[in-house]
Amino acid sequence: MNQTKITDNVYQLSVNVEDILFEGLWEMPNGVSINSYIIKGQKTALIDGVCGWDGVPETLLALLDKLEIDPKSIEYLIINHMEPDHSGWIEAFKKINSDFKIVCSQKGAELLEAFYNHSDNVIIVKDKDTLDLGNGHVLEFVEMPNVHWPDTMATFDTKTGILFSCDAFGSFGTVNESNYDDLLNEEEIDFYEKEAVRYYSNIIGAFSLPVKKAIEKCENLLIKMIAPGHGIVWRKNPNKIIEDYSRYVSYQKGLAKKEITLIWGSMYGMTQKAVDYAIKELEKENISVNVHKVPEDSWGTILASVWNSTGVILAMPTYEYKMFPPMAAVLEELGKKKAVGRKAFRFGSYGWSGGAQKELDEIIDKYKMNWEFIEPVEFKGSPREEDLNLIGLRIKELINTVNNLF
Ligand code: FEO
Repeated sequence: MNQTKITDNVYQLSVNVEDILFEGLWEMPNGVSINSYIIKGQKTALIDGVCGWDGVPETLLALLDKLEIDPKSIEYLIINHMEPDHSGWIEAFKKINSDFKIVCSQKGAELLEAFYNHSDNVIIVKDKDTLDLGNGHVLEFVEMPNVHWPDTMATFDTKTGILFSCDAFGSFGTVNESNYDDLLNEEEIDFYEKEAVRYYSNIIGAFSLPVKKAIEKCENLLIKMIAPGHGIVWRKNPNKIIEDYSRYVSYQKGLAKKEITLIWGSMYGMTQKAVDYAIKELEKENISVNVHKVPEDSWGTILASVWNSTGVILAMPTYEYKMFPPMAAVLEELGKKKAVGRKAFRFGSYGWSGGAQKELDEIIDKYKMNWEFIEPVEFKGSPREEDLNLIGLRIKELINTVNNLF
């Protein structure tokens, strides 16, 4: 955990969380930070919050103590978003200060009551409402519904130009005391860019249209810094993360990077023989390729690669008249996240009956994914030389299709 100063009278408290699945579901190989902020005017406000992931108040107390802030002096708890990664500390906070007001949106107040049975001293705010902390710190609230839940808002400090954006503009990846873009080198910024794609695609990608609207709202604010609920603070160049997020929004529709993601699974190595051949063919081409095996690689890792990729190759056998089940599960998740409009190719083995292709078509239709497939290659049992040659030709066709878009 660390506490740092963003600028005069504005501080960040941050806790790293590792070795859990985010939302009980998403693998985070590099963890995540949960960030909280304090603004000291004549009155003091705590924006979102941190405590141990288990809700232990000592974490928050220790961080406040290092900043020499008496928890009893905190008058306002501003909760931008009631998902428990940002609000799970409320009950812990009550144990150290029972006299405070909670500031949140109408939908946030409903969730506050549902999750924590708390409805006392709640100030409900909406777009453009303000809260004056004194000493010039007039906070303006910015509704950002569905980034990530319907209750989500951001808080803008008009004095410092800091947008406290909660889930918007966040990333995975743990942080240390240098968690500011002006203190990180290019390699470290690249690390958080990759973590931002994983975070975006896994957590808020399905809500790309609301993210687009939120970005448009930001154009009306004189933003000097962005301080998100996860990841690093953008103190030098907030436009970088805004532009990155604009790209991630657009990637949902299909034209992403000039990259191919190959997702494959195999039961007894028949499809794998063709995959090995396909990888050799792909290596001859001047294009970035991400290779993921199911069920071994996590949904989140695959989703992040597909989000970045304009082209997708699927290789899987038929299994009991259907598609190899782990591939079907991944495709269902891609459909739910609305990763649409990819250029795609599929190949795979079958034994006594086909069926994988039929289920693939059903999933693509069900989620209106609008993936544009070139003709698939299916082979009975082990692939013969002519099957491999055909797969090689189709891969070249896919790469040409992707290249022609850039
Ligand atoms: Fe970081 Fe939607 O919670």
